[in-house]
Amino acid sequence: MSKKLTVAVVGATGAVGREMLKTLHDRQFPATEVRAFASARSAGTKVPFGDDELVVQELKEDVFEGIDIAIFSAGGSTSEKFAPHAAHAGCVVVDNSSQWRMDDRCPLVVPEVNPEHLEGHQGIIANPNCSTIQMLVALKPIHDAVGIMVVSTYQAVSGTGQKGLEELERQTRDLFNMREPENKVYPYRIAFNVLPHIDVFLENDYTKEEMKMVNETHKMLDPNIRVTATCVRVPVFYGHSESVNIETEKKLTAAEARVILSQAPGVQVVDNPRANLYPLAVDAAGEDDVFVGRIREDESCDNALNLWIVADNVRKGAALNAVQIAEELLKRDLVSVVNPGMFL
Ligand code: A2P
Repeated sequence: MSKKLTVAVVGATGAVGREMLKTLHDRQFPATEVRAFASARSAGTKVPFGDDELVVQELKEDVFEGIDIAIFSAGGSTSEKFAPHAAHAGCVVVDNSSQWRMDDRCPLVVPEVNPEHLEGHQGIIANPNCSTIQMLVALKPIHDAVGIMVVSTYQAVSGTGQKGLEELERQTRDLFNMREPENKVYPYRIAFNVLPHIDVFLENDYTKEEMKMVNETHKMLDPNIRVTATCVRVPVFYGHSESVNIETEKKLTAAEARVILSQAPGVQVVDNPRANLYPLAVDAAGEDDVFVGRIREDESCDNALNLWIVADNVRKGAALNAVQIAEELLKRDLVSVVNPGMFL
């Protein structure tokens, strides 16, 4: 390899961070060196990288010197504090938290949807919310005529990180062993339950997760689409499912939508009701694509369609999308920070 390219994963011990390392390795991202960072708690521990292991280093403000791209998934407050230092050191940040998503200085990007927004970036690029990513990958190819969207999500516990996975596993084990399950992560039991509550409640009685879907769709796809969302946590380990109703200006038949979607990048149509074939979270887990099925015309409305959209929230919803952004940066020769002081 001729040119040196050093990549860091910040939050490398977490559910998404581990998947980021796996994705970088599986896709043979052309890094000459990969470094793993997490909190002081994890310094010195090891995380897998292909057949090797990386020693985790403590994240500090001065670690970014010599790093070209840092992919962050360590929560909003870590991103708020450290991403400006990374950019200041000339390191391009791809941030998976919600911290920078609605900041006008930061492009919010899904490579299948709006890769051109990377041009002119200022050093921090935001990776959208997992539920928004899969919805827009499926919506982009048919978006021209879309005016109104109503979405309900069924989201896996891995969206809450390692602690969400552990809570569902522990509560399930406790219930099978006649023990009272403890709620440490979610306000109510998640095992054998459904919680219409993801992230905090806002003034308008929507949750922050629901408003992320609205605001991020406006920033990336079209500010004129009217979107409303209900986000629900379900006892599934990996894979978010979404029921999406779209109202179009002109009639789009289910058959036409099926043809367009089957040719769209990053999308697989799984839609054969007579054979009981439709997208499932368990099948999407570990896969790169966004799966779309149950495509049918809404009989309560003249020009509307119903879709069922499923994707691996940790992969396309987080790690893969972030790595694809990094790949797009390389392709477009955008691995540099023009104004490094911008965020400090
Ligand atoms: P650590 O394991 O050292 O706490 P998840 O979303 O799965 O909970 O993972 C969160 C990730 O963010 C972990 O890798 C965690 O590291 C990391 N993290 C949390 N707080 C900090 C911090 N203040 N500095 C660096 N990394 C952090």
